[in-house]
Amino acid sequence: MELENKIKDPYKRPVISLRISITSRCNVNCLYCHHDGIMPQTEEMTADEIFRIAQVAREIGIRKIRLSGGEPLIRPDIVEIVEKISTMDFKDVSITTNGTLMERYAEKLVNAGLNRVNVSLDTLNPETYKFITTKNYLESAKNGIRAAAQAGMDPVKVNMVVMKDLNHEEIWDMFNFCKENNAVLQLIELLKTESCPDTEFIDQYHYEMEDLEEELAQAADKVKTRDFMQDRKKYYVDDGEIEIVKPMDNTEFCKNCTRLRITPDGKIKPCLLRNDNLVDIIGAIRRGEDMDELKKIFIDAIDNREPYYGGC
Ligand code: 5AD
Repeated sequence: MELENKIKDPYKRPVISLRISITSRCNVNCLYCHHDGIMPQTEEMTADEIFRIAQVAREIGIRKIRLSGGEPLIRPDIVEIVEKISTMDFKDVSITTNGTLMERYAEKLVNAGLNRVNVSLDTLNPETYKFITTKNYLESAKNGIRAAAQAGMDPVKVNMVVMKDLNHEEIWDMFNFCKENNAVLQLIELLKTESCPDTEFIDQYHYEMEDLEEELAQAADKVKTRDFMQDRKKYYVDDGEIEIVKPMDNTEFCKNCTRLRITPDGKIKPCLLRNDNLVDIIGAIRRGEDMDELKKIFIDAIDNREPYYGGC
């Protein structure tokens, strides 16, 4: 029912959430990283500009904000950014992070109004971590997950990109680690995009989720499919939760997509998988355009949303 009043694109998909990439800098360098579908850029928006974008989003009916990167916690003004966005009545303000700097910020972020967090962590094995990220930050990432849960972020989700022969045998270890630390494990299918630096890597490590889904279905006490979340399945196992995210060549992924993105240099990005339909908004903000004009730019971008894999 709640979805009825939301702004919709030409395919009748409501636009509910906005992902703002606040930097393309990152302190790790994951082999598979799709940089949120954005080619790395040097320009960044100020905290006030990010706030203005969130204000426009709120005005047109967007309900959720997620800050991503790069690594958003690399910005020294991350707490200020969260604080500013939280002054508006969003239903949800969240961050996607690699967790390595989270221990330092967890409490401050919760006090600033952050509701929840997704921490990218693919392995508990130090060598595998080094191989994937090129850094030795595994312990910091684990401590970051613990600190986030202790500070009251809820839920803390752990994003594990499942890769064949690299970490696919670690799923149950990861599940136990998450359960011990009050986190929810989210298994992500390795995705091929324009901005992946190494497509050979993707071909080599892509893991078919089908077998795993069967294993999970057997182990689960209960399975739920979530609407308007790309038909994600949620498995309840031994008092813990596992979710699966499968965007690869999946028309359901597009059909249920309710997201819009902002690139670190201030462009509206209607689709994770495309870069040919970006709409500039930061220029208009810097020119001092009024709210009506800014809303129009957002609505134009929404009117240009096209499903990448079809199915709508
Ligand atoms: N495939 C799947 N997920 C990816 N992510 C980044 N690159 C890829 C990719 N090629 C997602 C992961 C990671 C988050 C930051 O972005 O979920 O945790």
